[in-house]
Amino acid sequence: MAYASFRSIGAYVPKKILSNKDLATMVDTSDDWITKRTGIKERHIAAKEEFTSDMGVKAAELALERSGLAKEDIDMLVCATISPDYFCMPSTATVISAKLGLKNVTAFDISAACTGFIYSLSIAKAFIESGMKKNVLIIGAEKLSAITDYSDRGTCILFGDGAGAAVISATDNKAEAIIDVHTGADGEYGDLLMTPNGGSGSAHDALEQESSSCFMQMKGNETFKVAVRTLTKDVVEILEENGIQSDAIKHFIPHQANYRIIKAVGDALKMKEEQVVLTVAKYGNTSGASIPMAINDIYESGRLQKGELMLLDAFGGGLTWGSALIPFSPK
Ligand code: COA
Repeated sequence: MAYASFRSIGAYVPKKILSNKDLATMVDTSDDWITKRTGIKERHIAAKEEFTSDMGVKAAELALERSGLAKEDIDMLVCATISPDYFCMPSTATVISAKLGLKNVTAFDISAACTGFIYSLSIAKAFIESGMKKNVLIIGAEKLSAITDYSDRGTCILFGDGAGAAVISATDNKAEAIIDVHTGADGEYGDLLMTPNGGSGSAHDALEQESSSCFMQMKGNETFKVAVRTLTKDVVEILEENGIQSDAIKHFIPHQANYRIIKAVGDALKMKEEQVVLTVAKYGNTSGASIPMAINDIYESGRLQKGELMLLDAFGGGLTWGSALIPFSPK
């Protein structure tokens, strides 16, 4: 049987920084309020001419280079995004495949908001274990600044842009294999975080839509509570099902939405400070890109070594959630 291994990681962060102080000149807020309530100090914003696919390409190039594979070896590309280059089509995955010069790939986007990278991981694992694909490039890429309402202080302080990518490869060595991936959803909570307009369910006729129609709207307080509950429950289940204690986890990498959410979940799971990976202060919430960007951070700082066990945990609009137990398995 083929197993799926997490072979390499890459990320890209756009140059421009939007600090809390900058935001305080745009809406009625302050550095102090944002820092205390979210732990975020700054976020990066893509240039006008920089698309989600451009960021995805840069992250993917790095992951590919670090995998030691040739472009021709990649047989599938999955892009997790809620801020695609184009509404409906072509998918951002196909745009990225063209920009990378990938031929003979299956390429598609998935929409699972902040859980998108973990959903992509589960898809890559399933395709590889079934023998249908051998090397899958999974990308989380977001230009959330394009769907953020910068007059709404309840949301605009949270989100940033960026991309992360990983290569998932077939292996016959079980020690290298992704141990488990959980994914779940509950559509009853769909209204907590949504872009209410712009689709076929929109209250407006397409011709009448205003430019703000695709902006995100969020019920922050309710989202916060469901996030803590869901993230904690999901981790307890995946650890129990696989007979793994939390102290065996070298790197706990939660979706980077809010420091207070991460702290509450980490405390509930009795994670030590050194186990918990935190990038929310410098990147804010980059949705589907947040987890691979965080993995790349510990990789580039030399903290992530071959064989070390990572626990990923995410939660996002939909609602969706997911977790994954993964040894880092570079060749
Ligand atoms: N600056 C200053 N004040 C603000 C503010 C801002 N940026 N945003 C909201 N406020 C105000 C509110 O208007 C409210 O004022 P009031 O008491 O006079 O009515 C007060 O702060 C408290 O608002 P509330 O929404 O209860 O704050 P909170 O502690 O829940 O923090 C969030 C708001 C958005 C930071 C928090 O709810 C959160 O992070 N939620 C989860 C969001 C998330 O993770 N989403 C993505 C999921 S993947």
